[in-house]
Amino acid sequence: MRHDHLISANQLTREDIEAVLDRAADIADDPAAFRERRAGSVLALCFFEPSTRTKMSFDTAMKRLGGDTTDMGSVESSSVKKGESLADTIRVIEGYGDAIVLRHPSEGAAKMAAEFTDVPIVNAGDGAGQHPSQTLLDLFTIRENAGLDDLTIGIMGDLKYGRTVHSLSMALTNFDARQHFISPESLRLPRGVRFDLHEAGAQVREHTELEEVLGDLDVLYVTRIQRERFPDENEYHKVAGEYQIDLDTLEAASDDLTVMHPLPRVDEIAPEIDDTTHAKYFEQAHNGVPVRMALLDALLEDDR
Ligand code: NCD
Repeated sequence: MRHDHLISANQLTREDIEAVLDRAADIADDPAAFRERRAGSVLALCFFEPSTRTKMSFDTAMKRLGGDTTDMGSVESSSVKKGESLADTIRVIEGYGDAIVLRHPSEGAAKMAAEFTDVPIVNAGDGAGQHPSQTLLDLFTIRENAGLDDLTIGIMGDLKYGRTVHSLSMALTNFDARQHFISPESLRLPRGVRFDLHEAGAQVREHTELEEVLGDLDVLYVTRIQRERFPDENEYHKVAGEYQIDLDTLEAASDDLTVMHPLPRVDEIAPEIDDTTHAKYFEQAHNGVPVRMALLDALLEDDR
């Protein structure tokens, strides 16, 4: 990858994506060959919002490359609690790590942080903005299960606040993918994302009912309603519980449908789907390790 930072999926070319996915596939095939690859390197984990998968898989990825990690810990236990600015926090942490993974509740935080450091920043989620490393593991999972070309994908749920959706939909414009967006009217894709997709020549349709497209889909990417981002709790309750899928829903789907979810799920996917061949969300979460190993390896390349 030619980038210093990974802030948005908008910066990823098809070549970048394929390079990371190919390297991730090599890693998944022979993890032992990468065991000493980044020995001596340290990754700084800087999470201002809760995380299980993203933080732990970055941590594991760095360690499986022979490197180590240092963790800011929770906001409650760090100097952020004393009122330290994000800029100062980053300027300090750049002295402790060779790369920084940053998750923050404010949209634009990672972009801003990147202005204060030359150490590569990976945006691990900036509010309702972007989550590009999640996109790489999503694309890896799609490639393994359905293929990335001649793809028909449905992306359902909270398209307004869901940062994984914003990143994934932009990255998919590099491929021959028809994208169907399924959500309540109030949680449509934000205007800015729709504009970017249009500019990139995306093949996009919007729906309010899954039934309108389910039978055509190769992949159904389900997302959680992002309760924490609703300015008004009443608005959340108006849409909570809509757009759930269960075995009955999938009667109308192709036998080969791949069901994905960035997780955590609340009630969008009934547990009875977990044991079917459709369910790929746990595999998707596990793919976070080889994909993030490949990403870190590329960002820490000596000759950059
Ligand atoms: C997602 C996130 O944080 O945006 N989680 C993740 O990283 N896998 C999705 C979510 O929180 O709903």
